[in-house]
Amino acid sequence: MKKDGFSGKLGFVLAAAGSAVGLGNIWRFPYLTAKYGGGIFLLTYVVLVLTFGYALLISENAIGRMTRRSPIGAFRKLCAGKHSFLGAVRWGGWINSIVPLIILPYYCVIGGWVTKYVAALLVNPVSAFHKDALATHAGKSMSASAAYFLNFISDPVGSTAFFLVFVIITALVIACGVEKGIERFNKIMMPLLILLCIGICVYCMFLPGAGAGFRYYLMPDVRKFSYMTVVAAMGQLFFSLSIAMGIMITYGAYMRRNEDLISGVNQVEIFDTAVAFLAGMMIIPAVVAFGGEKAAENAGVGLVFITMPQVFAGFAGGRIFGVMFFVLVLFAAATSAVSLMETNVQMVSQEMRISRFKAILCVLGEVIGIGVVTLMGYSLLSHVRPLGFIEKYRNFDILDTLDFLSNSVLMPVGAIFTTVLVVAVVGLEKFSHYIRSGRPWRREFLFQFCMCVVVIPCLLVVLLNATGVLK
Ligand code: TRP
Repeated sequence: MKKDGFSGKLGFVLAAAGSAVGLGNIWRFPYLTAKYGGGIFLLTYVVLVLTFGYALLISENAIGRMTRRSPIGAFRKLCAGKHSFLGAVRWGGWINSIVPLIILPYYCVIGGWVTKYVAALLVNPVSAFHKDALATHAGKSMSASAAYFLNFISDPVGSTAFFLVFVIITALVIACGVEKGIERFNKIMMPLLILLCIGICVYCMFLPGAGAGFRYYLMPDVRKFSYMTVVAAMGQLFFSLSIAMGIMITYGAYMRRNEDLISGVNQVEIFDTAVAFLAGMMIIPAVVAFGGEKAAENAGVGLVFITMPQVFAGFAGGRIFGVMFFVLVLFAAATSAVSLMETNVQMVSQEMRISRFKAILCVLGEVIGIGVVTLMGYSLLSHVRPLGFIEKYRNFDILDTLDFLSNSVLMPVGAIFTTVLVVAVVGLEKFSHYIRSGRPWRREFLFQFCMCVVVIPCLLVVLLNATGVLK
Protein backbone atom coordinates (compact mmCIF):
# COMPACT_ATOMS: atom_id res chain seq x y z
CA MET A 1 0.00 0.00 0.00
CA LYS A 2 1.30 3.36 -0.95
CA LYS A 3 2.02 5.95 1.66
CA ASP A 4 2.03 8.63 -0.99
CA GLY A 5 -1.47 7.94 -2.22
CA PHE A 6 -2.83 6.74 -5.53
CA SER A 7 -1.88 8.56 -8.67
CA GLY A 8 -5.47 8.71 -9.81
CA LYS A 9 -8.72 6.84 -10.02
CA LEU A 10 -7.15 4.14 -12.14
CA GLY A 11 -4.57 3.59 -9.43
CA PHE A 12 -7.29 3.05 -6.89
CA VAL A 13 -9.33 0.78 -9.12
CA LEU A 14 -6.34 -1.38 -9.98
CA ALA A 15 -5.17 -1.67 -6.40
CA ALA A 16 -8.64 -2.39 -5.09
CA ALA A 17 -9.41 -4.84 -7.89
CA GLY A 18 -6.06 -6.56 -7.43
CA SER A 19 -6.75 -7.13 -3.78
CA ALA A 20 -10.41 -7.96 -4.35
CA VAL A 21 -9.80 -10.60 -7.02
CA GLY A 22 -8.21 -13.62 -5.47
CA LEU A 23 -9.04 -16.97 -3.99
CA GLY A 24 -12.43 -15.61 -3.03
CA ASN A 25 -13.45 -15.49 -6.66
CA ILE A 26 -11.82 -18.63 -7.94
CA TRP A 27 -11.77 -20.98 -4.97
CA ARG A 28 -14.53 -19.88 -2.61
CA PHE A 29 -17.30 -18.64 -4.90
CA PRO A 30 -17.55 -21.74 -7.11
CA TYR A 31 -17.66 -24.21 -4.25
CA LEU A 32 -20.26 -22.25 -2.31
CA THR A 33 -22.38 -21.85 -5.43
CA ALA A 34 -22.20 -25.55 -6.16
CA LYS A 35 -23.02 -26.42 -2.57
CA TYR A 36 -25.88 -24.02 -1.99
CA GLY A 37 -28.04 -24.76 -4.98
CA GLY A 38 -26.37 -23.21 -8.04
CA GLY A 39 -28.61 -20.65 -9.72
CA ILE A 40 -30.43 -19.62 -6.60
CA PHE A 41 -27.15 -18.87 -4.84
CA LEU A 42 -25.90 -16.91 -7.84
CA LEU A 43 -29.07 -14.84 -7.90
CA THR A 44 -29.01 -14.17 -4.15
CA TYR A 45 -25.37 -13.21 -4.38
CA VAL A 46 -25.81 -10.79 -7.26
CA VAL A 47 -28.80 -9.11 -5.62
CA LEU A 48 -26.87 -8.73 -2.37
CA VAL A 49 -23.79 -7.33 -4.11
CA LEU A 50 -25.80 -4.71 -5.98
CA THR A 51 -27.59 -3.46 -2.88
CA PHE A 52 -25.95 -4.32 0.36
CA GLY A 53 -22.40 -4.82 -0.93
CA TYR A 54 -22.52 -1.60 -2.87
CA ALA A 55 -23.69 0.42 0.13
CA LEU A 56 -20.98 -0.97 2.38
CA LEU A 57 -18.23 -0.69 -0.21
CA ILE A 58 -18.96 2.96 -0.84
CA SER A 59 -19.35 3.71 2.89
CA GLU A 60 -16.00 2.22 3.76
CA ASN A 61 -14.24 4.14 1.05
CA ALA A 62 -15.85 7.38 2.08
CA ILE A 63 -14.98 6.78 5.74
CA GLY A 64 -11.36 6.32 4.74
CA ARG A 65 -11.33 9.37 2.53
CA MET A 66 -13.05 11.51 5.15
CA THR A 67 -10.70 10.64 7.98
CA ARG A 68 -7.50 9.65 6.15
CA ARG A 69 -6.86 7.12 8.90
CA SER A 70 -6.57 3.38 9.27
CA PRO A 71 -9.82 1.72 10.41
CA ILE A 72 -9.10 1.97 14.13
CA GLY A 73 -8.14 5.62 13.80
CA ALA A 74 -11.06 6.37 11.51
CA PHE A 75 -13.65 5.01 13.92
CA ARG A 76 -11.93 6.76 16.82
CA LYS A 77 -11.87 10.09 15.01
CA LEU A 78 -15.49 10.00 13.89
CA CYS A 79 -16.70 8.93 17.32
CA ALA A 80 -14.61 11.48 19.19
CA GLY A 81 -16.68 13.58 21.57
CA LYS A 82 -19.67 11.24 21.41
CA HIS A 83 -20.92 9.66 24.56
CA SER A 84 -22.43 6.41 25.69
CA PHE A 85 -23.83 4.34 22.83
CA LEU A 86 -22.46 6.40 19.98
CA GLY A 87 -19.05 6.64 21.64
CA ALA A 88 -18.94 2.86 21.93
CA VAL A 89 -19.22 2.54 18.16
CA ARG A 90 -15.51 3.29 17.98
CA TRP A 91 -14.78 -0.33 18.93
CA GLY A 92 -15.96 -1.19 15.43
CA GLY A 93 -12.51 -0.26 14.17
CA TRP A 94 -11.05 -3.10 16.16
CA ILE A 95 -13.48 -5.64 14.84
CA ASN A 96 -12.67 -4.54 11.31
CA SER A 97 -8.96 -4.97 12.04
CA ILE A 98 -9.13 -8.37 13.67
CA VAL A 99 -10.87 -10.05 10.75
CA PRO A 100 -7.83 -10.03 8.42
CA LEU A 101 -5.79 -11.63 11.20
CA ILE A 102 -8.19 -14.57 11.14
CA ILE A 103 -8.45 -14.76 7.38
CA LEU A 104 -4.77 -14.57 6.45
CA PRO A 105 -3.65 -17.90 7.99
CA TYR A 106 -6.23 -19.99 6.21
CA TYR A 107 -5.87 -17.91 3.06
CA CYS A 108 -2.23 -18.98 3.04
CA VAL A 109 -3.27 -22.60 3.61
CA ILE A 110 -5.27 -22.51 0.39
CA GLY A 111 -2.43 -20.56 -1.25
CA GLY A 112 -0.17 -23.48 -0.30
CA TRP A 113 -2.56 -25.91 -1.97
CA VAL A 114 -2.46 -23.85 -5.15
CA THR A 115 1.35 -23.88 -5.02
CA LYS A 116 1.24 -27.65 -4.68
CA TYR A 117 -0.99 -27.96 -7.73
CA VAL A 118 1.39 -25.97 -9.86
CA ALA A 119 4.03 -28.51 -8.92
CA ALA A 120 1.66 -31.48 -9.22
CA LEU A 121 0.68 -30.69 -12.77
CA LEU A 122 4.27 -30.02 -13.70
CA VAL A 123 5.47 -33.45 -12.61
CA ASN A 124 2.47 -35.75 -13.04
CA PRO A 125 1.00 -36.94 -16.31
CA VAL A 126 -2.46 -35.39 -16.58
CA SER A 127 -3.98 -38.79 -17.21
CA ALA A 128 -3.42 -39.37 -13.49
CA PHE A 129 -6.32 -36.97 -12.91
CA HIS A 130 -8.66 -38.35 -15.56
CA LYS A 131 -12.27 -38.32 -14.42
CA ASP A 132 -12.63 -42.05 -14.97
CA ALA A 133 -9.41 -43.02 -13.20
CA LEU A 134 -9.84 -44.46 -9.73
CA ALA A 135 -7.63 -44.44 -6.66
CA THR A 136 -7.94 -44.89 -2.94
CA HIS A 137 -7.82 -42.57 0.02
CA ALA A 138 -8.05 -43.92 3.56
CA GLY A 139 -9.10 -47.28 2.15
CA LYS A 140 -11.99 -45.84 0.14
CA SER A 141 -12.11 -45.99 -3.63
CA MET A 142 -12.87 -42.71 -5.35
CA SER A 143 -11.88 -40.67 -8.40
CA ALA A 144 -8.13 -40.45 -8.74
CA SER A 145 -8.28 -36.70 -8.67
CA ALA A 146 -10.20 -36.57 -5.38
CA ALA A 147 -7.89 -39.15 -3.86
CA TYR A 148 -4.87 -37.16 -4.93
CA PHE A 149 -6.23 -34.06 -3.24
CA LEU A 150 -7.23 -35.81 -0.02
CA ASN A 151 -3.96 -37.71 0.19
CA PHE A 152 -2.09 -34.46 -0.20
CA ILE A 153 -3.94 -32.47 2.44
CA SER A 154 -3.80 -35.32 4.90
CA ASP A 155 -0.02 -35.51 4.65
CA PRO A 156 1.17 -33.22 7.47
CA VAL A 157 4.70 -32.75 6.18
CA GLY A 158 4.03 -32.14 2.51
CA SER A 159 1.15 -29.79 3.06
CA THR A 160 3.09 -27.77 5.63
CA ALA A 161 6.02 -27.45 3.25
CA PHE A 162 3.88 -25.91 0.50
CA PHE A 163 2.10 -23.69 3.00
CA LEU A 164 5.45 -22.34 4.17
CA VAL A 165 6.59 -21.70 0.61
CA PHE A 166 3.52 -19.55 0.05
CA VAL A 167 3.88 -17.68 3.36
CA ILE A 168 7.55 -16.99 2.78
CA ILE A 169 6.96 -15.63 -0.72
CA THR A 170 4.31 -13.30 0.69
CA ALA A 171 6.49 -12.14 3.56
CA LEU A 172 9.45 -11.53 1.26
CA VAL A 173 7.38 -9.32 -0.98
CA ILE A 174 6.31 -7.30 2.05
CA ALA A 175 9.78 -7.12 3.54
CA CYS A 176 11.41 -6.07 0.28
CA GLY A 177 8.62 -3.68 -0.55
CA VAL A 178 8.36 -4.84 -4.14
CA GLU A 179 4.61 -4.37 -4.18
CA LYS A 180 4.83 -1.74 -6.90
CA GLY A 181 6.60 -4.22 -9.14
CA ILE A 182 4.07 -6.91 -8.32
CA GLU A 183 1.29 -4.57 -9.21
CA ARG A 184 2.79 -3.88 -12.58
CA PHE A 185 3.20 -7.60 -13.11
CA ASN A 186 -0.38 -8.07 -12.05
CA LYS A 187 -1.59 -5.86 -14.85
CA ILE A 188 -0.38 -8.55 -17.24
CA MET A 189 -1.30 -11.59 -15.17
CA MET A 190 -4.87 -10.53 -14.41
CA PRO A 191 -6.00 -10.17 -18.04
CA LEU A 192 -4.19 -13.42 -18.84
CA LEU A 193 -6.08 -15.19 -16.09
CA ILE A 194 -9.37 -13.87 -17.42
CA LEU A 195 -8.55 -14.88 -20.99
CA LEU A 196 -7.58 -18.37 -19.85
CA CYS A 197 -10.80 -18.68 -17.85
CA ILE A 198 -12.86 -17.66 -20.86
CA GLY A 199 -11.05 -20.25 -22.97
CA ILE A 200 -11.73 -22.97 -20.39
CA CYS A 201 -15.38 -21.91 -20.19
CA VAL A 202 -15.76 -22.37 -23.93
CA TYR A 203 -14.15 -25.79 -23.73
CA CYS A 204 -16.45 -26.79 -20.86
CA MET A 205 -19.50 -25.82 -22.88
CA PHE A 206 -18.80 -28.71 -25.17
CA LEU A 207 -18.29 -31.35 -22.51
CA PRO A 208 -20.89 -34.09 -22.77
CA GLY A 209 -23.47 -33.41 -20.07
CA ALA A 210 -22.46 -29.78 -19.56
CA GLY A 211 -25.97 -28.60 -20.45
CA ALA A 212 -27.32 -29.84 -17.13
CA GLY A 213 -24.46 -28.04 -15.42
CA PHE A 214 -25.22 -24.73 -17.07
CA ARG A 215 -28.84 -25.14 -16.11
CA TYR A 216 -27.80 -25.86 -12.52
CA TYR A 217 -25.65 -22.74 -12.45
CA LEU A 218 -27.84 -20.30 -14.32
CA MET A 219 -31.43 -21.30 -13.60
CA PRO A 220 -32.47 -20.43 -10.06
CA ASP A 221 -34.46 -23.16 -8.39
CA VAL A 222 -36.43 -21.56 -5.58
CA ARG A 223 -36.94 -24.88 -3.84
CA LYS A 224 -33.24 -24.83 -3.01
CA PHE A 225 -33.51 -21.46 -1.28
CA SER A 226 -32.90 -21.50 2.45
CA TYR A 227 -31.64 -19.38 5.27
CA MET A 228 -28.16 -20.80 4.66
CA THR A 229 -28.21 -19.49 1.07
CA VAL A 230 -28.40 -15.96 2.43
CA VAL A 231 -25.82 -16.53 5.16
CA ALA A 232 -23.36 -18.06 2.73
CA ALA A 233 -23.96 -15.42 0.06
CA MET A 234 -23.51 -12.64 2.57
CA GLY A 235 -20.26 -14.11 3.90
CA GLN A 236 -19.00 -14.53 0.36
CA LEU A 237 -19.82 -10.93 -0.43
CA PHE A 238 -17.79 -9.63 2.50
CA PHE A 239 -14.89 -11.91 1.67
CA SER A 240 -14.81 -11.28 -2.05
CA LEU A 241 -15.25 -7.51 -2.00
CA SER A 242 -12.81 -7.31 0.94
CA ILE A 243 -15.29 -5.31 2.99
CA ALA A 244 -15.88 -5.31 6.75
CA MET A 245 -12.19 -5.78 7.36
CA GLY A 246 -10.84 -2.31 7.11
CA ILE A 247 -9.08 -2.79 3.81
CA MET A 248 -11.42 -0.52 1.88
CA ILE A 249 -11.18 2.13 4.59
CA THR A 250 -7.43 2.05 4.17
CA TYR A 251 -7.72 2.33 0.39
CA GLY A 252 -10.17 5.20 0.71
CA ALA A 253 -7.62 6.99 2.87
CA TYR A 254 -5.15 6.90 0.01
CA MET A 255 -7.51 8.47 -2.50
CA ARG A 256 -7.21 12.10 -3.40
CA ARG A 257 -9.96 14.32 -2.08
CA ASN A 258 -11.33 15.36 -5.44
CA GLU A 259 -11.37 11.85 -6.85
CA ASP A 260 -14.61 10.47 -8.23
CA LEU A 261 -15.37 7.83 -5.64
CA ILE A 262 -18.70 6.73 -7.04
CA SER A 263 -17.53 5.37 -10.37
CA GLY A 264 -14.36 3.91 -8.86
CA VAL A 265 -16.43 1.82 -6.50
CA ASN A 266 -18.78 0.77 -9.31
CA GLN A 267 -15.88 -0.58 -11.30
CA VAL A 268 -14.43 -2.59 -8.45
CA GLU A 269 -17.82 -4.09 -7.70
CA ILE A 270 -18.55 -5.05 -11.30
CA PHE A 271 -15.09 -6.41 -12.00
CA ASP A 272 -14.96 -8.57 -8.91
CA THR A 273 -18.39 -10.04 -9.51
CA ALA A 274 -17.63 -10.68 -13.17
CA VAL A 275 -14.51 -12.67 -12.32
CA ALA A 276 -16.41 -14.75 -9.78
CA PHE A 277 -19.16 -15.40 -12.30
CA LEU A 278 -16.62 -16.51 -14.86
CA ALA A 279 -14.96 -18.87 -12.40
CA GLY A 280 -18.36 -20.41 -11.72
CA MET A 281 -18.99 -20.82 -15.45
CA MET A 282 -15.75 -22.68 -15.73
CA ILE A 283 -16.10 -25.06 -12.82
CA ILE A 284 -19.76 -25.78 -12.13
CA PRO A 285 -20.81 -27.18 -15.52
CA ALA A 286 -17.74 -29.42 -15.39
CA VAL A 287 -18.59 -30.73 -11.93
CA VAL A 288 -22.12 -31.56 -12.97
CA ALA A 289 -20.94 -33.08 -16.25
CA PHE A 290 -18.51 -35.37 -14.43
CA GLY A 291 -20.49 -36.26 -11.33
CA GLY A 292 -24.06 -34.99 -11.60
CA GLU A 293 -25.87 -32.54 -9.33
CA LYS A 294 -25.14 -34.69 -6.30
CA ALA A 295 -21.43 -34.07 -6.78
CA ALA A 296 -22.12 -30.34 -6.94
CA GLU A 297 -24.16 -30.35 -3.76
CA ASN A 298 -21.48 -32.28 -1.91
CA ALA A 299 -18.81 -29.81 -2.97
CA GLY A 300 -16.39 -28.54 -0.36
CA VAL A 301 -13.14 -26.64 -0.12
CA GLY A 302 -11.47 -29.04 -2.56
CA LEU A 303 -13.73 -28.36 -5.53
CA VAL A 304 -11.29 -26.37 -7.66
CA PHE A 305 -8.46 -28.75 -6.89
CA ILE A 306 -10.45 -31.86 -7.74
CA THR A 307 -12.46 -30.74 -10.75
CA MET A 308 -10.05 -28.52 -12.66
CA PRO A 309 -7.33 -31.19 -13.09
CA GLN A 310 -10.07 -33.50 -14.42
CA VAL A 311 -10.98 -30.87 -16.98
CA PHE A 312 -7.34 -30.52 -18.04
CA ALA A 313 -6.97 -34.29 -18.29
CA GLY A 314 -9.67 -34.29 -20.95
CA PHE A 315 -7.77 -32.75 -23.85
CA ALA A 316 -4.39 -32.83 -25.54
CA GLY A 317 -2.03 -30.25 -24.09
CA GLY A 318 -4.24 -30.00 -21.02
CA ARG A 319 -1.25 -30.20 -18.77
CA ILE A 320 0.24 -26.97 -20.10
CA PHE A 321 -3.08 -25.22 -19.60
CA GLY A 322 -3.35 -26.72 -16.15
CA VAL A 323 0.02 -25.41 -15.08
CA MET A 324 -0.80 -22.02 -16.54
CA PHE A 325 -4.14 -21.93 -14.79
CA PHE A 326 -2.73 -22.69 -11.36
CA VAL A 327 0.19 -20.29 -11.86
CA LEU A 328 -2.25 -17.50 -12.64
CA VAL A 329 -4.45 -18.39 -9.66
CA LEU A 330 -1.29 -18.41 -7.56
CA PHE A 331 -0.64 -14.85 -8.65
CA ALA A 332 -4.14 -13.70 -7.88
CA ALA A 333 -3.81 -15.35 -4.47
CA ALA A 334 -0.36 -13.95 -3.76
CA THR A 335 -1.34 -10.36 -4.54
CA SER A 336 -4.32 -10.65 -2.21
CA ALA A 337 -2.23 -12.30 0.48
CA VAL A 338 0.34 -9.52 0.21
CA SER A 339 -2.28 -6.88 0.73
CA LEU A 340 -3.90 -8.82 3.58
CA MET A 341 -0.55 -9.22 5.30
CA GLU A 342 0.28 -5.57 4.71
CA THR A 343 -2.96 -4.54 6.42
CA ASN A 344 -2.09 -6.71 9.40
CA VAL A 345 1.49 -5.47 9.59
CA GLN A 346 0.39 -1.84 9.53
CA MET A 347 -2.22 -2.42 12.19
CA VAL A 348 0.12 -4.31 14.50
CA SER A 349 2.95 -1.82 14.10
CA GLN A 350 0.69 1.18 14.72
CA GLU A 351 -1.31 -0.18 17.61
CA MET A 352 1.55 -1.94 19.38
CA ARG A 353 3.93 0.89 18.54
CA ILE A 354 6.64 -1.41 17.27
CA SER A 355 8.83 -1.18 14.21
CA ARG A 356 7.67 -2.49 10.89
CA PHE A 357 10.20 -5.27 10.97
CA LYS A 358 9.05 -6.49 14.38
CA ALA A 359 5.46 -6.26 13.22
CA ILE A 360 6.25 -8.46 10.23
CA LEU A 361 7.74 -11.05 12.58
CA CYS A 362 4.67 -10.94 14.85
CA VAL A 363 2.28 -11.38 11.96
CA LEU A 364 4.42 -14.16 10.49
CA GLY A 365 4.38 -15.97 13.82
CA GLU A 366 0.62 -15.67 14.03
CA VAL A 367 0.08 -16.81 10.45
CA ILE A 368 2.39 -19.78 10.71
CA GLY A 369 1.02 -20.80 14.12
CA ILE A 370 -2.65 -20.69 13.20
CA GLY A 371 -1.97 -21.83 9.64
CA VAL A 372 -0.19 -25.00 10.74
CA VAL A 373 -2.95 -25.84 13.21
CA THR A 374 -5.47 -25.32 10.39
CA LEU A 375 -3.51 -27.65 8.13
CA MET A 376 -3.28 -30.30 10.81
CA GLY A 377 -7.06 -30.19 10.85
CA TYR A 378 -6.79 -32.48 7.82
CA SER A 379 -4.22 -34.85 9.27
CA LEU A 380 -3.08 -35.07 12.89
CA LEU A 381 -6.02 -33.09 14.25
CA SER A 382 -8.61 -34.42 11.85
CA HIS A 383 -10.90 -35.41 14.72
CA VAL A 384 -11.06 -31.81 16.00
CA ARG A 385 -14.40 -30.09 15.46
CA PRO A 386 -14.14 -26.74 17.28
CA LEU A 387 -17.86 -26.04 17.05
CA GLY A 388 -18.88 -29.63 17.61
CA PHE A 389 -21.07 -28.67 20.55
CA ILE A 390 -23.49 -26.95 18.18
CA GLU A 391 -25.45 -29.47 16.19
CA LYS A 392 -25.46 -27.47 12.96
CA TYR A 393 -21.69 -27.01 12.90
CA ARG A 394 -20.82 -30.52 13.98
CA ASN A 395 -18.93 -31.23 10.77
CA PHE A 396 -16.89 -28.03 10.58
CA ASP A 397 -13.16 -28.71 10.56
CA ILE A 398 -10.68 -26.06 11.68
CA LEU A 399 -10.56 -24.24 8.35
CA ASP A 400 -14.34 -24.25 8.05
CA THR A 401 -14.54 -22.85 11.56
CA LEU A 402 -12.12 -19.96 10.94
CA ASP A 403 -13.91 -19.21 7.70
CA PHE A 404 -17.29 -19.29 9.39
CA LEU A 405 -16.25 -17.17 12.37
CA SER A 406 -14.76 -14.47 10.19
CA ASN A 407 -17.26 -14.36 7.32
CA SER A 408 -20.51 -15.21 9.02
CA VAL A 409 -19.97 -13.80 12.50
CA LEU A 410 -17.32 -11.10 12.77
CA MET A 411 -17.87 -9.49 9.39
CA PRO A 412 -21.61 -9.00 9.86
CA VAL A 413 -20.83 -7.50 13.27
CA GLY A 414 -18.24 -5.23 11.66
CA ALA A 415 -20.80 -4.23 9.03
CA ILE A 416 -23.27 -3.34 11.77
CA PHE A 417 -20.70 -1.02 13.34
CA THR A 418 -19.90 0.61 10.00
CA THR A 419 -23.58 1.18 9.33
CA VAL A 420 -24.25 2.68 12.74
CA LEU A 421 -21.23 4.88 12.26
CA VAL A 422 -22.58 6.16 8.95
CA VAL A 423 -26.23 6.47 9.86
CA ALA A 424 -26.11 7.60 13.47
CA VAL A 425 -22.68 9.00 14.26
CA VAL A 426 -21.96 10.92 11.07
CA GLY A 427 -25.54 11.22 9.86
CA LEU A 428 -26.83 9.72 6.63
CA GLU A 429 -27.61 13.01 4.90
CA LYS A 430 -24.23 14.51 5.71
CA PHE A 431 -22.52 11.34 4.59
CA SER A 432 -24.36 11.20 1.23
CA HIS A 433 -23.59 14.83 0.68
CA TYR A 434 -19.92 14.09 1.17
CA ILE A 435 -19.94 11.20 -1.30
CA ARG A 436 -21.95 13.12 -3.87
CA SER A 437 -19.67 16.17 -3.67
CA GLY A 438 -21.69 17.93 -6.32
CA ARG A 439 -21.83 15.09 -8.84
CA PRO A 440 -24.97 13.30 -9.93
CA TRP A 441 -25.31 10.00 -8.11
CA ARG A 442 -27.81 7.59 -9.55
CA ARG A 443 -27.81 5.05 -6.80
CA GLU A 444 -28.08 7.54 -3.96
CA PHE A 445 -31.58 6.49 -2.98
CA LEU A 446 -30.57 2.86 -3.13
CA PHE A 447 -27.57 3.64 -0.96
CA GLN A 448 -29.60 5.43 1.66
CA PHE A 449 -32.27 2.81 1.67
CA CYS A 450 -29.74 0.00 2.05
CA MET A 451 -27.88 1.76 4.83
CA CYS A 452 -31.10 2.04 6.77
CA VAL A 453 -31.88 -1.66 6.50
CA VAL A 454 -28.41 -3.29 6.32
CA VAL A 455 -28.25 -3.70 10.05
CA ILE A 456 -31.33 -5.87 10.20
CA PRO A 457 -30.25 -8.77 7.97
CA CYS A 458 -26.77 -8.63 9.52
CA LEU A 459 -28.18 -8.86 13.01
CA LEU A 460 -30.46 -11.68 11.98
CA VAL A 461 -27.61 -13.66 10.48
CA VAL A 462 -25.46 -13.26 13.54
CA LEU A 463 -28.18 -13.96 16.07
CA LEU A 464 -29.71 -16.89 14.27
CA ASN A 465 -26.27 -18.35 13.70
CA ALA A 466 -25.36 -17.92 17.32
CA THR A 467 -28.36 -19.85 18.48
CA GLY A 468 -27.54 -22.51 15.90
CA VAL A 469 -31.13 -23.64 15.80
CA LEU A 470 -31.83 -22.89 12.18
CA LYS A 471 -30.70 -25.32 9.55
N1 TRP B 1 -11.13 -10.41 -1.56
C1 TRP B 1 -10.03 -11.32 -1.62
C2 TRP B 1 -10.39 -12.48 -2.50
O1 TRP B 1 -11.40 -12.50 -3.13
C3 TRP B 1 -9.65 -11.83 -0.28
C4 TRP B 1 -9.46 -10.79 0.72
C5 TRP B 1 -10.16 -10.66 1.82
C6 TRP B 1 -8.51 -9.75 0.74
N2 TRP B 1 -9.72 -9.60 2.53
C7 TRP B 1 -8.72 -9.02 1.90
C8 TRP B 1 -7.52 -9.37 -0.12
C9 TRP B 1 -7.97 -7.92 2.21
C10 TRP B 1 -6.75 -8.28 0.19
C11 TRP B 1 -6.99 -7.55 1.34
O2 TRP B 1 -9.66 -13.42 -2.58
